[in-house]
Amino acid sequence: MKKITIAIDGFSSTGKSTIAKQLAKKLNYVYVDTGAMYRAVALFVLNNGLINEAGEVKNLVEKLPEITLNFKLNEETGNADTYLNGENVEKEIRTLRVSNVVSMVAAISEVRKKLVEQQKKMGAEKGVVMDGRDIGTVVFPDAELKLFMTASAKTRAHRRYKELVDRGEEVTFDAVLKNVQERDHLDSNREDSPLIQAETAIEFDNSDMGLKEQFERIYNFALRII
Ligand code: C5P
Repeated sequence: MKKITIAIDGFSSTGKSTIAKQLAKKLNYVYVDTGAMYRAVALFVLNNGLINEAGEVKNLVEKLPEITLNFKLNEETGNADTYLNGENVEKEIRTLRVSNVVSMVAAISEVRKKLVEQQKKMGAEKGVVMDGRDIGTVVFPDAELKLFMTASAKTRAHRRYKELVDRGEEVTFDAVLKNVQERDHLDSNREDSPLIQAETAIEFDNSDMGLKEQFERIYNFALRII
């Protein structure tokens, strides 16, 4: 079997990471959650007071060399946790507080340049499943399998709301829906690497599809290539 690159892009909370993780386990591939990397930079911004009173990100670009991101396997969950400057930030980066600023941070070209460089290195050997917004268009335009995941905004907000409540966060459904819609808007309309479907990507709407069916279909796409 040949090793390929699998790029999974799409809107917020379309279940990209769940499918990507399952696929990587089944194929014995590396899984890279690029959203976690942007989230970790957003956490750095919040922790260092880099948002001014007008709500804009300030002085981040000169501080980028101070940011180191890694992933390390969590033996308990079997998944990789995200580390920001040596600290495990896996839980913190998933909060609504971080979600509310991440798209603003991700629109900064210098941030994207730094993270895309690291992502390219992580996938250089192939045998990788990477999910995000620009994987099939910018990070790995030559990926052998590209998917573009969609689902209705309400379905997605319900999924994200449940996830947050299950983790013990006190959030309202409306706040989650608003965040999902705002992020989609910002991600799709930014100048640098906007969220768009790559020409060769397979569009995959999973609004009314269970996990098992999604996985089987996507796994079959991969089997046809490898
Ligand atoms: O995938 P997730 O929802 O965790 O991503 C959080 C945010 O990070 C996205 O809303 C987007 O602004 C940004 N992102 C990005 N490019 C990627 C992955 C994520 O701009 N490849």
